[in-house]
Amino acid sequence: MASDNPANQITAQATDWVMGTYARQPVRLVRGSGARVWDDTGREYLDFLAGIAVCGVGHCHPHVVKAIADQAATLIHVSNHFHNALQPELARRLCALTGMEKAFFGNSGAEANECAIKIARKWGKAQRGPDCHEIITFSGSFHGRTLATVTATAQPKYSAPFAPLPAGFIYVEPGDVAALDDAITERTCAVMIEPVQGESGIRIFQPDFLKLLRQLCDEAEALLIFDEVQSGMGRTGRFLASSHAGVSGDIVTLAKSVASGVPMGVCLARGSAATTLAPGDHGSTFGGQPLACASALATLDVIETEELMKRATAVGSGFLKGLRALADAFPSVVREARGLGLMLALELSVPEAKTLQRGLLDRGIIVNAVGDTILRFLPPLVVTDADCATVVTALRELLGELQP
Ligand SMILES: Cc1ncc(COP(=O)(O)O)c(C=O)c1O
Repeated sequence: MASDNPANQITAQATDWVMGTYARQPVRLVRGSGARVWDDTGREYLDFLAGIAVCGVGHCHPHVVKAIADQAATLIHVSNHFHNALQPELARRLCALTGMEKAFFGNSGAEANECAIKIARKWGKAQRGPDCHEIITFSGSFHGRTLATVTATAQPKYSAPFAPLPAGFIYVEPGDVAALDDAITERTCAVMIEPVQGESGIRIFQPDFLKLLRQLCDEAEALLIFDEVQSGMGRTGRFLASSHAGVSGDIVTLAKSVASGVPMGVCLARGSAATTLAPGDHGSTFGGQPLACASALATLDVIETEELMKRATAVGSGFLKGLRALADAFPSVVREARGLGLMLALELSVPEAKTLQRGLLDRGIIVNAVGDTILRFLPPLVVTDADCATVVTALRELLGELQP
């Protein structure tokens, strides 16, 4: 009987009461510490997904926990009709780290990108009139689930059921310079790009392409928006992944690990983009409330004091070496290993990513299968070389079963 099986019981309880928007693993997680989480049977897992890049400084980092607890006992929420002391301090620190000048605070990556889209449209109309409202995005991108951001996401599988969609989004193939050149016109107010596409399986844009994008935006007088919701906060070894190319956006969005799991999304901007929104143009009830700001400030402290960006580079390059060795050892199964810092993927030439994800879970390791052929790794930046070696060893055994 299905109800005798604990995995089925977990699934049945959720499907009775929660909308079926997620294909969940049959595991109920109850506790976390550093790079590890535990389920309700006491089983330990090595977490190489980190809440989808959210727990960048690790689960329940003591400095973050204390900041949240202290702030919760002091002032959890105050509306944006009033000042709170933490919001401008957090904005100042994020601007210093990103080269931006002002911040807007929301609660998610989608909201951060909505803010970017609204700034770009208002800014474009002020520059060249109402027709200057088009935003160019790239195939395979992921910018969120609200109607505007799911339309910006150039993957119809996410947006088609929700048509009619907002107008004014133009899609270009990554790396297709001629198509990009054609697409940028006087109607273009912005180009929006993830420097490393996360949800489509860690697709890294080359520095030369990002530099060219900056040049084309400058020539066309269009804004360049970097969606660093997944790639930001030090994950790739620099605070922003776009810094690897030495390119600055006009707008940068952050979310995911910005407040270590307390919901927060941030839209940062510089120049005239930073002063485009006026009172009444935009807002968010919860955006920038003291609890989330306290958690974000503590998160930044940890990234700095524990030198987690250096660590992401060092540990990430060792892990990539291990994954590349697997690609060499199993050439008929593995197509490629790729990564930047601690944002990595193993692409298979066979549709077995979910088999590997399941096999790793059975061995107490959490990773993410992107479609049928890609395994994505987004561990907390506090993982060790030994943790990465554990994952590589487990993968070696599982790949050996696929390619005897
Ligand atoms: C690059 C990028 N942008 C935006 C989002 C949307 O973020 P959220 O789910 O917090 O709305 C995601 C989520 O995966 C993302 O990876």
